[in-house]
Amino acid sequence: MALISTLTPVFVAILCVVIAIVFKTRRGSEYSSSEKSSSGGGKKTENRPWVDEDLQDDTEISGRENEEDDWADTGTEDLPHVPYNPCRYPEDKMLERSKQFYTLLNERRSVRCISPEPVPREVIDNVIRAAGTAPSGAHTEPWTFVVVADAETKHKIREIVEEEEEINYKQRMGDKWVHDLRRLRTNWVKEYLETAPYLILIFKQTYGIMADGRKKTHYYNEISVSISCGLLLAALQNVGLVTVTSTPLNCGPQLRVLLHRPANEKLLMLLPVGYPAPDATVPDLTRKQLEDIMVFV
Ligand SMILES: Cc1cc2nc3c(=O)[nH]c(=O)nc-3n(C[C@H](O)[C@H](O)[C@H](O)COP(=O)(O)O)c2cc1C
Repeated sequence: MALISTLTPVFVAILCVVIAIVFKTRRGSEYSSSEKSSSGGGKKTENRPWVDEDLQDDTEISGRENEEDDWADTGTEDLPHVPYNPCRYPEDKMLERSKQFYTLLNERRSVRCISPEPVPREVIDNVIRAAGTAPSGAHTEPWTFVVVADAETKHKIREIVEEEEEINYKQRMGDKWVHDLRRLRTNWVKEYLETAPYLILIFKQTYGIMADGRKKTHYYNEISVSISCGLLLAALQNVGLVTVTSTPLNCGPQLRVLLHRPANEKLLMLLPVGYPAPDATVPDLTRKQLEDIMVFV
């Protein structure tokens, strides 16, 4: 009898642990099955090493109840609407311009060997002006373009990027991704980060900060900034400069600190900009044909 009463608390403790484990396991399987069904048809949840943790934010979700007082409404003032009469071309001219623009953009290539030859600063100002014409969610213009010409800063950027990229290639990216990149002959050595006369680092502002310190919602900030990057690539192509679109995985926080950018800004893209080096080569890629990318209804 004495033995039973001594062991009872032990049994109760063991029972509690077993119940807790069963409960946790059930919740885990419920979670993964709902995740499977929401991702469409019971597919195994994919490992996505290219998703940069620093870029994961909840700014597209409205749940910010605790901070409601710190947030301002976007533009409450009455905005006048003005007539809009852009240039209209005759159809033959339209056709010609559409072909010319396509030809221009079709010549764009990602170039990883960039000449140190100087590029006029005003050209950079203008391509960034062009990027700044992009549409943005509720006209919030959630972008910051940091242009780096200073050699020491470029050197520090290269050190940060190469150190992280070496870890990316050797540990984070995984065999499949590294294998898929092999034909592009990319690796963690990024000489262009120092040879290019300019590095343009594009930050998305996950929210705005008003003059009075209140925060402003930046709707669809990543899509808006991505569109702006597309315009920037086209503007660079238009003036005969080259770049390579790069999204240095896991470098965002260090580069943000190095460049003294505020906490609401996250690095989306890094573009080295300049003329192509005389010995530059590019992979002999082909692009999908119109019928493979367009569905006409
Ligand atoms: C979102 C994005 C990220 C990219 N990241 C890199 C990168 O980190 N390093 C690199 O060398 N190229 C990068 N690229 C360039 C692609 O490899 C390149 O666009 C693709 O191979 C097609 O070649 P093209 O740009 O010459 O048409 C990236 C492109 C995109 C759109």
